[in-house]
Amino acid sequence: MSLIELRGVTKTFLSGAEAVTPVQDLDFDVQQGEFVCLMGPSGSGKTTLLHLLAGIDQPSEGRVVIAGEEVSAMSANALARWRTRAVGYVFQQYNLIPVLTAAENVEVPLLLLRMSRADRARRVAVALAAVGLTDRAHHLPRQMSGGQQQRVAIARALVADPVALLADEPTGNLDRSSATATMQLLRRLVDEFGKTLVMVTHDPQAAKSADRVVHLDKGRIVDRVDAEAAEHDHA
Ligand SMILES: Nc1ncnc2c1ncn2[C@@H]1O[C@H](COP(=O)(O)OP(=O)(O)OP(=O)(O)O)[C@@H](O)[C@H]1O
Ligand SMILES: [Mg+2]
Repeated sequence: MSLIELRGVTKTFLSGAEAVTPVQDLDFDVQQGEFVCLMGPSGSGKTTLLHLLAGIDQPSEGRVVIAGEEVSAMSANALARWRTRAVGYVFQQYNLIPVLTAAENVEVPLLLLRMSRADRARRVAVALAAVGLTDRAHHLPRQMSGGQQQRVAIARALVADPVALLADEPTGNLDRSSATATMQLLRRLVDEFGKTLVMVTHDPQAAKSADRVVHLDKGRIVDRVDAEAAEHDHA
């Protein structure tokens, strides 16, 4: 069985009289320990798909099953609990809380779990060490570079030891060298920590780190079409 299993998944949003269907009748599988990259034009449904994987949105039709649990059948309460321990989410804009230090930002997901202060401190230290930021634990986000802030965000996504990491354009705001360092870190989390990673990117360079690239167009999985992707094929 796949770690992530989508069957016949459709997501329709109603805005006024208009219906938008960013994900259409999708079958999609990700294996345990796999690093999959999602690419596709703007509006092709990449973020919507990640939201469905994270249980941030529920499908209009079809089933989302992650690690044997049917996410698409959970109540809102069950979903909130499940999300904290099952998936870690990394955003393009980092989304750190500006008044909290790196360590305090990383601790936030653990506050939703039943855990002693000492256990939380231990987990935070392990996560910060994994991203190479032990020496920045007491810095505020504004005292760190973009690349360091993204590594704090990755530590926060990791800290509850989720089965899957989901990342939406994690290198979109970074310069080339920070982007490369971030991709090396993500690759290492898959190789050394056995994490499963689904990452959205527009960056063909970043996509090279993945085990597999899946192309979306108009809410469906397609064979690669664009020139950038074709170039990546021959690289
Ligand atoms: N909550 C929502 N309500 C209405 N429409 C939505 C909602 N979320 C997404 N959409 C629509 O679904 C389509 C796909 O959006 P999505 O954010 O998944 O695209 P994307 O592939 O991530 O694009 P980008 O590369 O620009 O981030 C868009 O047309 C968008 O307007
Ligand atoms: Mg998007």
